Amino acid sequence: MYSDKVMDHFSNPRNVGVIEDPDGYGEAESTSCGDTIEVYIRVEDERLAEIKYRTFGCAAAIASSSFASELLTGAPLQKVPAITDAEIADQLGLPEFKYHCSVMVMQALHAAVQYYQAKSQTPAAADATT
Ligand code: FES
Repeated sequence: MYSDKVMDHFSNPRNVGVIEDPDGYGEAESTSCGDTIEVYIRVEDERLAEIKYRTFGCAAAIASSSFASELLTGAPLQKVPAITDAEIADQLGLPEFKYHCSVMVMQALHAAVQYYQAKSQTPAAADATT
């Protein structure tokens, strides 16, 4: 059912974990199954220097999280909002009926970038979260 690429990312997921005191944080829940994800980012020079995540979901969701974290580490922040879950699913080679499992990783990653950008623009608000 799954390609070698999906099985590789599922069996050996990259970048799993949390970042203490992250620059950005986002979470998402799949509306179709209730699975969840937490994404943490560290930013350097307006690029995603590090991405960590904890995915509580199926094999396709774990593989999507791993693949997205690997693909987007080092990416300019401004590029991230334009990257869709469909692109992740397509490049990873998910079967079409599992495309929905790639949605939450990009939702959470987009939220983490928005969190960082909001924090950067309003330093006083950032103090309130610590
Ligand atoms: Fe829940 Fe795949 S079935 S994310």
